[in-house]
Amino acid sequence: MPFYVTTPIYYVNAAPHLGHAYTAIAADVLARHHRQCGEDVFFLTGTDEHGEPVALAAEQLGIPPLELADRNAQRFRDLMPLLDVSNDYFIRTTDPHHVAEVQRILTAVRENGYVYEGTYEGWYCPRCADFKTDAEIGPDNTCPIHKIPLVREKEENHFFALSAFQEQLERLFDERPDFVMPRHRYNEARAFLAGGLQDVSLTRPKLRWGVEVPWDRSQVFYVWFDALLNYVTALSFARGKQQDLTQRFWPATYHIIGKDILKFHTIYWPALLLAAGLEVPRHVFVHGFLLTPHEGGEVEKMSKSRGNVIDPVAVVEEFGADALRFYLAREVAFGQDGPVSEAGFVTRYETELANDYGNLASRTIAMINRYRGGRIDAVELDPELAPDFEGLEARVSAKLHDAEITQALEEIWKRVRRLNRYVEERAPWQLAKEDAKAAELDRTLASLHEGLRVVTVLLVPYLPRAAEKLLAALGRAGETDLAEARYVGGREIAVDALEPLFPKR
Ligand code: MSP
Repeated sequence: MPFYVTTPIYYVNAAPHLGHAYTAIAADVLARHHRQCGEDVFFLTGTDEHGEPVALAAEQLGIPPLELADRNAQRFRDLMPLLDVSNDYFIRTTDPHHVAEVQRILTAVRENGYVYEGTYEGWYCPRCADFKTDAEIGPDNTCPIHKIPLVREKEENHFFALSAFQEQLERLFDERPDFVMPRHRYNEARAFLAGGLQDVSLTRPKLRWGVEVPWDRSQVFYVWFDALLNYVTALSFARGKQQDLTQRFWPATYHIIGKDILKFHTIYWPALLLAAGLEVPRHVFVHGFLLTPHEGGEVEKMSKSRGNVIDPVAVVEEFGADALRFYLAREVAFGQDGPVSEAGFVTRYETELANDYGNLASRTIAMINRYRGGRIDAVELDPELAPDFEGLEARVSAKLHDAEITQALEEIWKRVRRLNRYVEERAPWQLAKEDAKAAELDRTLASLHEGLRVVTVLLVPYLPRAAEKLLAALGRAGETDLAEARYVGGREIAVDALEPLFPKR
């Protein structure tokens, strides 16, 4: 089964921040899970380097746009390994292969009859690089996202006949209620569609920082069309021209995006693909915003431009990538908005990672070492825990197949808590005092070991490093396939020493 997941490509007008890390981590959790299911996975991320947001930022710095792009693309590229994000390729839209493919595909769109010349007049946000429809304009002609005045634009350019796809898109939404997820975002996209589609600018005359229009060299493509196409173009050259991955991975399984770019991905993008004669993606999953609790208790979208940012690099340097991945997956229900804060991060780190999980791991290994010299024969497991693990891996996997990252993690965490209760109930330190309870102690420790191993296999997508270390200490190094996440026991146990997984600060 092929599984192709993408993140939005990031604007290189500024350095990466937590919002960017969020999308990348979410997509990575899915990619790692599908790999552990044995699927054929391709995971794409990269940078969006053309268009006004980048050109304006470069102008302010007094440097050429490509210089700014080179500098910041590198920072995004470096962020991925830092977060343990396992992307299979990193695309830059200034890559000549991408440029050539954009020109080829958009020429085909024109040859298919969906491009015409016209005059655009309307309101435009240079920060969104978005031509706003009437319904999208804030008070006094401002951008509702950036709160800056919109610019009145009047220009001669080439149009994309978006309105020609009204019915096809309605049919797509009717036939595939999971095309846009979660449900409330599907409804939002549908409402936009119900408002009636208007044709949109495909090219821009003034701006020179973009992909040249092959049939009219006085124009460049509007950055969103160039950017969206990355999801398709990357497959054609990521492994060199000799190995075109398009057949193998297109259509994409999931585009993971933030809610601010819903219109482009759920309306423009499928229409453009249909116009080019390409298949539309299977799902667009729209996540919410990370918000920052403000001084007055108010929350606000967290973004670089407003300066209220948790720095992902600093958090990772102090606490490790696993801790940030866990916090983001757990704190804000994936698909909803939610506040994040350093204090909230530290609380979860201490109570859940250090105590619930880290401590459970340390205790389990320590008790097997102390009471049984690190070895236990294959014994029958405690049936009391069996119902807690029955069908668990299938349930977690079903949720992750629906991109329900937070809900899947909650399923796992319930078992982490269950195992902690089990330790208290069975009190192995009491059993160890009585020779007559030796068999019971064996069974208790083996069951704990098995339960801990199962949750750890399930945590591989979220906590890749801690899971790797702990599986090794549990004597089951590298056994990360989903099929291993069953509470079955029946094997001899040999454990190693374990450093604290999440040391207290
Ligand atoms: N370049 C476009 C995407 C083109 S995709 C063909 C873009 N780039 S961006 O750098 O501005 O944003 C990238 C992603 O980060 C978006 O999905 C956006 O929603 C996400 N986030 C930026 N700030 C965010 C939060 N505060 N919270 C969560 N995600 C947010 O848009």
